Amino acid sequence: MGVENSMSTDQLKQEILRLKKEKKAVILAHYYQQGPIQDIADHIGDSLALARYAATLDDARIVVLCGVHFMGETAKLLCPDKKVLVPDADAGCSLADSCPADSFAEFIKEHPGHTVVSYVNTSVGVKALTDILVTSGNARRIIDAMPEDSKIIFGPDRNLGNYINSVTGRNMVLWDGACHVHEKFSVEKILELKKTHPEAKILVHPECKRAVVLLADKVGSTAALLDFARESEASEFIVATESGILHQMRKDCPGKTFIPAPPDDATTCGCNDCGYMKLNTLEKLYACLRDETPEITVDPELAEAARRPIERMLEMS
Ligand code: 13P
Ligand code: SF4
Repeated sequence: MGVENSMSTDQLKQEILRLKKEKKAVILAHYYQQGPIQDIADHIGDSLALARYAATLDDARIVVLCGVHFMGETAKLLCPDKKVLVPDADAGCSLADSCPADSFAEFIKEHPGHTVVSYVNTSVGVKALTDILVTSGNARRIIDAMPEDSKIIFGPDRNLGNYINSVTGRNMVLWDGACHVHEKFSVEKILELKKTHPEAKILVHPECKRAVVLLADKVGSTAALLDFARESEASEFIVATESGILHQMRKDCPGKTFIPAPPDDATTCGCNDCGYMKLNTLEKLYACLRDETPEITVDPELAEAARRPIERMLEMS
């Protein structure tokens, strides 16, 4: 057991802040991280915002990406001269795993003449096969900007792909992947909740199934859902995305009520946790800053090809 496991939360926070300064480190955290990690981060955001921050961190020597592995890889691609750390190297992503690069390469071969658009939740190998990357925050805008007669492959999320097809009128060919957290929200249980909270607005991430998206008052990335909650005059919201976002919603909107949408298999609670995101803890954040590990590395042969579609995305968004 490391010394970090016997430290109090306050001691951990103090040490993290001290090490951060001493080592010229910047902490970036996704909205799905545990509350204390969001609270200590220099910047919190959705995947798009985190990529943007990573692209502009001139003074830092170390970037600690509190999120999942592909987010660390994106940061490393955007700042190759910096040391990029993640608190837990096992923080993967079921959606990225649903699209192995060799199978995706076959899929591309089966659809000659198509532009390859990939969601950022992918491995470096898939990014290297991609023409342009998108996040849930800019996918619609980027697809809308492409010529109307473009033939497009979209991977790996069939739910986001279906949603973008429905709002843009495109007919993108979809890779059949999904996120295990977003796939499991229950239409019936959301409708039951709506009976007891008739005024509640339903906020839905586009990684959810179409039947859930159809119930939404607002569909959007984590940042877009948070903005909607801040600006809305409603006082109650049913939230169909990973539970970490509730921390920021409750913090930013005191007096408003946020109810997690129940998943299909919920018994007594509405815990919509992404087990990968929740692997990161304050203890591991402290240890990773202290020991400067686990470090994200990217295969140099793939790095250049993988960086190009990210840069294209940032130019277009
Ligand atoms: P955002 O693009 O909203 O940050 O979503 C990332 C993600 O992993 C959703 O599951
Ligand atoms: Fe991946 Fe889903 Fe977790 Fe997001 S919530 S990181 S898509 S497994």
